[in-house]
Amino acid sequence: MNYNKKTVKDVNVKGKKVLLRCDFNVPQDKATGAITDDKRIRAALPTIQYLLDQGAAVIACSHLGKPEPSFDKWAKKQAEKGKDPASLTKEKWEKTLEALRMEPVAQRLSELLGRKVILAADVVGPDAQAKAAALQPGEIMLLQNTRFEKGETKNDPELAKAMAGLAGADGVYVSDAFGAVHRAHASTAGVAAYLPAVSGFLIQKELEFIGGALADPKRPLVAILGGAKVSSKIGVINNLLEIADAIIIGGGMAYTFAKAQGGAVGDSLLERDWLDYCNEMVAKAKEKGVKLLLPVDNVIADKFDANANSQVVKTGEIPDGWQGLDIGPETTKLYCDAVKDAGTVIWNGPMGVFEFEKFAVGTKAVAEALSKTSAITIIGGGDSAAAVQQLGYADKMTHISTGGGASLEFMEGKELPGVACLLDK
Ligand code: 3PG
Repeated sequence: MNYNKKTVKDVNVKGKKVLLRCDFNVPQDKATGAITDDKRIRAALPTIQYLLDQGAAVIACSHLGKPEPSFDKWAKKQAEKGKDPASLTKEKWEKTLEALRMEPVAQRLSELLGRKVILAADVVGPDAQAKAAALQPGEIMLLQNTRFEKGETKNDPELAKAMAGLAGADGVYVSDAFGAVHRAHASTAGVAAYLPAVSGFLIQKELEFIGGALADPKRPLVAILGGAKVSSKIGVINNLLEIADAIIIGGGMAYTFAKAQGGAVGDSLLERDWLDYCNEMVAKAKEKGVKLLLPVDNVIADKFDANANSQVVKTGEIPDGWQGLDIGPETTKLYCDAVKDAGTVIWNGPMGVFEFEKFAVGTKAVAEALSKTSAITIIGGGDSAAAVQQLGYADKMTHISTGGGASLEFMEGKELPGVACLLDK
């Protein structure tokens, strides 16, 4: 995939309408709807501010959550989940949509920008059309949740055309929704067929760091892969075995590797279907000359609980009734040493259950080791980003990705539709 894409700086937006796709898919309090973390809105501010300063009229849009725009489909899905069909009323469905309207996002965006954000009542309906037509240079409006439109997730060309039409004949499409670039949806990819399409600063930065590390890394390139399941990291392991000089395995998925190597893993997380795969990966690493580091000891617990009893045992010697919840001290030292002289480190997935303080030690030590190395340090979105933030090392990393699924698919070497659709430099 070509990561060298045109950016907002390569087009003239003065006096033009810009359709700007952001990832405003923010977490909200279930009861009040209040935004509990506005990082994604803040991350879009540099591009928005730049466009407004350049004299563009900005039509921002985003999805929020996973609303089901068809009542029949919603009712079917609920019934499949075991809900009583008699209770599945239109009013209930409408409430689910109501909870995912963009009002709280518009309000927070307005507070952060210190200016009015005009909110449309629909995505491409009469209100959005009238408001977009009246929008002046230096003004910003926000469309309703793009997933309220049935055509959004189907990448319907008619919807894409209608969205592009809001920006007019000389409009420009700017994508800054890195978190959604792995989706081939009407607002993330389809619109690029109807408007000149460039990236915002956020996507530019993600392409520069993650793309750079994958295409032409400062070596040695060390990949640290953790998280609960081997099955969710297969694509990443496969791709990085082609690129990295060393791969470090931690987290829950390390127990499937331990079992595959003939060890006892007690009640630890185990994916029996992936045992052969683990052995294949060990063999492939050997064949390719990639150093594959697996844990040599673990911190185990007598239950999955923050206050469980714990002890350190050698990997592969976990008794029944116990489960591994962190890498052990010897492994921690081994892993921290392995990143010391790295040129680039890519980290995706925590080393243990970092949400429990007692089992956050390995993850914390690795984060600290990364904060001290002179290597380029790239943290994948989702859990690893949350761990680095929670443990207080966020400002010590070169780059923390804003995309969970998107950064994972990027590291898998997959083509990202929301990037592929942008103009090449
Ligand atoms: C995310 O939260 O990872 C992005 O906003 C994409 O959301 P989605 O998984 O609902 O497409």
